[in-house]
Amino acid sequence: MLVAERMARAIPGRATYEAAPNIALLKYWGNRDPELALPCNSSLSVTLDRLRTRTTVSFDRSRSQDRFVLNGALQSGGPFSAVSHFLDRVRDAAGIAAHADVRSTNNFPTASGMASSASGFAALAGASTAAAGLELSERALSQLARCGSGSASRSIFGGFVEWRAGTRTDGRDCYARMLHPPRYWPSFRDLVLLIDAAPTKSVRSSEAMQTTVRTSPYFAQRQRELPSRTRKMARAIRDRDAAKLFPLVMEECDSFRNVCETTVPSLDYLTPSSRAVIAEVRTLNDEAHRPVAAYTHDAGAHLHVFLLAPDVASVRRRLGRIPGVRRTLVLRPGPGGRRRA
Ligand code: PMV
Repeated sequence: MLVAERMARAIPGRATYEAAPNIALLKYWGNRDPELALPCNSSLSVTLDRLRTRTTVSFDRSRSQDRFVLNGALQSGGPFSAVSHFLDRVRDAAGIAAHADVRSTNNFPTASGMASSASGFAALAGASTAAAGLELSERALSQLARCGSGSASRSIFGGFVEWRAGTRTDGRDCYARMLHPPRYWPSFRDLVLLIDAAPTKSVRSSEAMQTTVRTSPYFAQRQRELPSRTRKMARAIRDRDAAKLFPLVMEECDSFRNVCETTVPSLDYLTPSSRAVIAEVRTLNDEAHRPVAAYTHDAGAHLHVFLLAPDVASVRRRLGRIPGVRRTLVLRPGPGGRRRA
């Protein structure tokens, strides 16, 4: 089809989609193909409830360029280019040339380190494809969302999610899927500790992780450990077995932090308060002689502490007192992405 014909073709034009952030129990950190965003290893996550990104995309043939407004503020530079490049993929796939107006709102602070890129690109994938008249399966949507931010592939789905790395060079076997729905483990909670004075990310994760692949002396060892850790974690989630899962989550978080810190130049995402939370979780588990809670974090200073409902009040009180912990939130596994009217 000629470009002029494509431009003249009728498309729905406008669509809205909502998606939530997710937190990885087993981390994605390193691509085997950065161009196609094909990861070195499979990852496991839980999609969170209550937090949402809501995005409306309107394609309009009279626009001369894309426009991206986030929480009411017109975006330029890096965030704008990332959105506009993503829309180029959608335009290519749909055979359209129109530019778009993109309006996105987060019901949580964008720069809080709450993985707004995962919910952001999942919501953009859902809204832009629907607005462009493409009807994609959730699997295909996860493959597209991955091109904006790897972890966004997982935010298409709710509950406990696996993103399979696959082995094919064309990426056809690389996609996310739901392992268990949100209500599968009713007592599972994520206590989020928002840390004061968290430094803003200076390097994008997608770049930082490739520096790790090239320079960390522990990266190869981590890759060797991951298949067995992934299998054990998936089994512990399936069995709703916190006593097995929580130590694996902390082992994985320590391994992720180790490859970050041994990257040259070193990647240090934590503040002294984040480290104090980690130490306190270890102490409280030692005192209780059982894994009451498991800490994890992504490429930021905030901590996620997994635990079961009966332990929430006491652990929240104890960790909430640590200097530098600004706010605590208690979240459950939540739903996946959804088209909105
Ligand atoms: O999705 P990205 O490119 O922002 O990378 C996410 C990296 C981690 O959050 C650290 C790990 C993960 O699996 O979410």
